[in-house]
Amino acid sequence: MLLPMGGSLMSEVISIASRSGTYQVLFTENILEIIKAYSNETIFIIDEKLQAPYRDIYSAIRNPGRCIIVNALEQNKTVNYCQQLIKALVRLNVRKNYTLVAIGGGIVQDITGFIASMLFRGVRWQFIPTTLLAQADSCIGSKTSMNLDEYKNILGGFYPPSKIYIDIQFLDTLPTKEIKSGIGEILHFYFIANSPLLYEMINNYEELLLSRHHFKKFISESLSIKKELIEIDEYDQKERNIFNYGHTFGHAIESISNYEVPHGQAVTIGMDIANYISKSIYELSINEFNMMHDILIKNFPSYQIPTDKIDDYFVALSKDKKNIGKNLGCILTDGIGSMWKAQIPLDGVLKSTISEYFEYYDLFDK
Ligand SMILES: NC(=O)c1ccc[n+]([C@@H]2O[C@H](COP(=O)([O-])OP(=O)(O)OC[C@H]3O[C@@H](n4cnc5c(N)ncnc54)[C@H](O)[C@@H]3O)[C@@H](O)[C@H]2O)c1
Repeated sequence: MLLPMGGSLMSEVISIASRSGTYQVLFTENILEIIKAYSNETIFIIDEKLQAPYRDIYSAIRNPGRCIIVNALEQNKTVNYCQQLIKALVRLNVRKNYTLVAIGGGIVQDITGFIASMLFRGVRWQFIPTTLLAQADSCIGSKTSMNLDEYKNILGGFYPPSKIYIDIQFLDTLPTKEIKSGIGEILHFYFIANSPLLYEMINNYEELLLSRHHFKKFISESLSIKKELIEIDEYDQKERNIFNYGHTFGHAIESISNYEVPHGQAVTIGMDIANYISKSIYELSINEFNMMHDILIKNFPSYQIPTDKIDDYFVALSKDKKNIGKNLGCILTDGIGSMWKAQIPLDGVLKSTISEYFEYYDLFDK
């Protein structure tokens, strides 16, 4: 499916400065040539969904015995699952000088990055992201996160890949809901940075869902916005916290939908909830709220929240890793380009504001 296209292997490069050294994101239209060039001291960790549509990738791998296939389920982002994969790596005689190459979305990335950071106290890894979300967001920033029971992403560290190769041809086979998930994360960066590409993307929303090769500049802009803050605050202690905009309220949507709503679409609703709270309890103007809502609603999932899940929603919020004491850690806004960090009591006022939001925008399954 991915045909070598000749010419230069790389069309654009973004360099990211990190505490572990500078690493690069390289845009390419020639991923097969890159895969062919890996030495025998490489083990590939590949999303099993890529097996059927991308048989040519397997033919390009020098030693196909050096592949581990993973099932990219949120339920598999666990230490137990990683332990099984480490055993498989050991059976393949992995050595400290080997490179692990992840090919897949954010789940395969988190699993491979986590394993690479632990194995022999750290082996080199590289990443070929195949989802829009992974290409436009998660591939940079160094995070490796695992889930523990119902607690999402509460384990992990910071261990960036040494190289990232982006080929947007992978987007051709991605289900539409996963494209929308990626758009959710891109919107979140564009809102935070007041990107000039915000309206261009939203005005061409339907066309982009069909003609995915147009995503390149939107991906590049998204990574450039993320680069600015991860270079200042790689370990997410201060400035980078702003990127949690939409995530606190979004994670809780993911959790009550049992991950039926993909991450970036949950973040889309999460941003709208953060904006609603900002309008109802703080200073966001109604006009600005409506303007942002009109953009976000284009990217909402069709999922309806079962009415009996509202209590579970507040329980999920109360377990967010950014909470301090009984306060909810989240990012609120005064408008596009103006986000701020808040710790707000998870009390009756907040709960009734959120319930009112779900009711008013008809997000319940009645
Ligand atoms: N480490 C980080 O910095 C970071 C940042 C954001 C999100 N994440 C994590 O990333 C995960 C979400 O990642 P994601 O949205 O990339 O989803 P994903 O990895 O779950 O992939 C989504 C679905 O698309 C399939 N898929 C992948 N590539 C495909 C392709 N080219 N064609 C067809 N199907 C394909 C997968 O098998 C899966 O079913 C979450 O676990 C989230 O917590 C990590």
